[in-house]
Amino acid sequence: MVLSLLCLSLIVLEALHSQAQDIPPTRIPAPPLSKIPLQPDFQDDRFQGDWFTIGAATNAVMKGKGNNSKYYMTRVNFELNDDHSYNVSTTGLSGQKCAQWTSTLVPYIQPGQFTRLNMTNSDTESYLWRVTATDYEQFAMLYIEYKFKHRIYFQVKLNGRTQELSSELQEHFIKFARSLGLGDENTVYFEPIVTSIQGATWLPHQTCQ
Ligand SMILES: *[C@@H]1O[C@H](CO)[C@@H](O)[C@H](O)[C@H]1NC(C)=O
Ligand SMILES: *[C@@H]1O[C@H](CO)[C@@H](O)[C@H](O)[C@H]1NC(C)=O
Ligand SMILES: *[C@@H]1O[C@H](CO)[C@@H](O)[C@H](O)[C@H]1NC(C)=O
Repeated sequence: MVLSLLCLSLIVLEALHSQAQDIPPTRIPAPPLSKIPLQPDFQDDRFQGDWFTIGAATNAVMKGKGNNSKYYMTRVNFELNDDHSYNVSTTGLSGQKCAQWTSTLVPYIQPGQFTRLNMTNSDTESYLWRVTATDYEQFAMLYIEYKFKHRIYFQVKLNGRTQELSSELQEHFIKFARSLGLGDENTVYFEPIVTSIQGATWLPHQTCQ
């Protein structure tokens, strides 16, 4: 089954929505883009390879109180094409099965910023993906903003080359999320990928069928 990465995000978000006990009265508005840093002199070739999603904060997440549901990291692979677009392949658990999603990010306006092609079949009206900071070797912080069914959603993501990052980097991520109005209830830390989850056997570097 081929699902877009966006679909995956939305499924996760829907799952989070359905767990919400207290629905906040208003959605946190997206910040002006001028408030969002951009990695200077972005080097797209060095950004290639595997990344793990360590944490995410979004104005769409409303965690239910007292819910101990776990969310597992996804592994995201970036391969650069000659036209400077990326083939993005995401591997993660969908239910209890390993699944893979692919998408294409194309350069958009300035280096370090991308958008998606072919969103005509979905209800997504715009999509912006920006690298706000990276050292290419340990961490990457991302800002993603998209319009879906006339609503604007935004996310901050912390990616790591490994499944663990220093507490300094995690604090930096939390600070950035807070500066955009996102609090604990909007933030999810993903559990490290384990080799066996309730019968689903999956090694991080194993390719899923
Ligand atoms: C917590 O999440 C699980 C799995 O999504 C759900 O079945 C359960 O109802 C949730 N519990 C609460 C208290 O929200
Ligand atoms: C990206 O994907 C396209 C379409 O599947 C493929 O033709 C191309 O070779 C891929 N590029 C890289 C760098 O793997
Ligand atoms: C986008 O859609 C066009 C027309 O349907 C198709 O030719 C093209 O290959 C698609 N591009 C990608 C990246 O899927």
